[in-house]
Amino acid sequence: MKKILLAGSALLFGLTGFIPQSLAQDEIRSLRGDHPLDENSAEPEMKNWQLDRDPIPRDHVKQPPLIPHKIQGYRINLKFNKCMSCHSWTKYKEAGATKISQSHFEDRENNVMANVAARRYFCTQCHVPQVNARPLVENTFQPLPTIK
Ligand code: HEC
Ligand code: HEC
Repeated sequence: MKKILLAGSALLFGLTGFIPQSLAQDEIRSLRGDHPLDENSAEPEMKNWQLDRDPIPRDHVKQPPLIPHKIQGYRINLKFNKCMSCHSWTKYKEAGATKISQSHFEDRENNVMANVAARRYFCTQCHVPQVNARPLVENTFQPLPTIK
């Protein structure tokens, strides 16, 4: 047992000793280049969630619609999905919300399930709420007029 451990650590040591050397040869440089970290960089500006509003127009076919309301405190876990308490087919009318589409019941083999498919369960993987952030880069994207 001891021998195996020793052999193992020798191997590890050998490996860890080896990696930095080979990396150093490739001269890895960070995106920041040679600039050191600023000591007192400005704090990022706080972003506010947008107020609840009407649905946001979609820009292309099959775009997951953006979430036009706040979702703070809306839990999605193994036992509970807060989004479904308003967006499920049984609750949407009462809540005045859009019901999730048929596509959300289909698994990846296109079998239609009785409940929301596992791959659509974590809504915020695809649907995102909005903040008052300015775009990081200029964007001139225009949706096709036929989609509007
Ligand atoms: C308390 C009820 C409620 C909950 C909970 C809720 N929503 Fe909504 N949601 C609404 C309503 C109401 C609308 C707006 C419908 C309208 O104005 O036509 C809406 C709109 C949306 C839309 C836009 C639909 C479209 O056609 O553009 C998306 C996407 C959405 N919600 C996703 C979510 C997600 C994801 C969650 C969970 C994180 C969630 N919602 C939780 C009530 C709710
Ligand atoms: C894998 C990505 C994905 C996930 C996860 C997902 N959606 Fe969607 N959702 C979409 C796409 C794409 C569309 C638009 C095309 C469509 O209707 O299938 C959409 C459409 C919608 C719509 C608008 C339906 C309509 O008739 O216009 C609502 C509401 C919605 N989703 C809510 C939800 C909720 C609630 C969840 C979580 C239970 C969820 N989605 C999970 C991708 C996703």
